[in-house]
Amino acid sequence: MARNKIALIGAGQIGGTLAHLAGLKELGDIVLFDIAEGTPQGKALDLVESSPVDGFDAKLAGTNTYEEIEGADVVIVTAGVPRKPGMSRDDLLEINLKVMEQVGAGIKKYAPNAFVICITNPLDAMVWALQKFSGLPANKVVGMAGVLDSARFRYFLAEEFNVSVEDVTAFVMGGHGDTMVPMVRYSTVAGIPLPDLVKMGWCTAERLEEIVQRTRDGGAEVVGLLKTGSAFYAPAASAIQMAESYLKDKKRLLPCAAHLEGQYGIKDMYVGVPCVIGADGIERVVEIELNNDEKTMFDNSVNSVEGLVDACKKIQPALA
Ligand code: APR
Repeated sequence: MARNKIALIGAGQIGGTLAHLAGLKELGDIVLFDIAEGTPQGKALDLVESSPVDGFDAKLAGTNTYEEIEGADVVIVTAGVPRKPGMSRDDLLEINLKVMEQVGAGIKKYAPNAFVICITNPLDAMVWALQKFSGLPANKVVGMAGVLDSARFRYFLAEEFNVSVEDVTAFVMGGHGDTMVPMVRYSTVAGIPLPDLVKMGWCTAERLEEIVQRTRDGGAEVVGLLKTGSAFYAPAASAIQMAESYLKDKKRLLPCAAHLEGQYGIKDMYVGVPCVIGADGIERVVEIELNNDEKTMFDNSVNSVEGLVDACKKIQPALA
């Protein structure tokens, strides 16, 4: 059986890390695309030269032309600009929307059967625009945010409770911004829900709220430390988990920015919700029950995504 082909649009910090992880996991042959000349070629060569040491077989190529992504099974998009300290993800909207237009056209022409994972921020609006620009079916275009936000939440909880990260399950819903909703009731340590752990004295409700807030600010915390860009290791690992679920038909249930067609009362928007990813892309959107508080926070988050989508429609009327 021929190897899968993975195209990475954007060969910056996240793109390079994606290529490395995809190689190490032998997910397929990898093409790195970027508008910067030399960057994708240099990263591809450097990475493939690590393959004898790490013992993986994959072809790695760098390119500045879309032709070379032809026939890709998976496309992961990080093209665009990242945040600098003091910027919100929303500040990137105008410039990254133009990038999505170009990327969408490239995917439409050369990889119309791919499963497309968007990482570019502001995520929920960019993945919405990318789906429109590419014309691919909505179940094949998804945004990566929830796996990352949940991983941050899981890590902070594991650190607080001094337990393995493997035993902490957590998920975060809503938009990938300050209004995201870490779902305390649905997060557990080995099946024990967080509210029960508070009752058992593992931490106070106030401390849990601090962890929830740190999760919401997780991206900004890294930006503040790095100063020259935004997080890249954890975002890349998160997108690779989604790609692997698609390529291996694992049917993982992961929080993703998915196109909603009435679920949660939302139409034609991408928002973070639990999804099953398998060989058909987003195979199922899972509608969990929200209590009043959760619903209020989720609606608030959806409203902020709606504001970004409206801003996209104003900038590019073809999207309206
Ligand atoms: N087409 C292709 N690549 C582009 C384009 C374009 N039109 N415009 C910019 N790029 C490339 C840049 O040349 C750069 O190599 O996208 C790459 C982005 O890489 P970084 O600046 O290192 O950013 P990164 O940290 O990888 O983040 C990328 O993901 O998490 C989000 O907010 C983040 O939107 C940002 C994106």
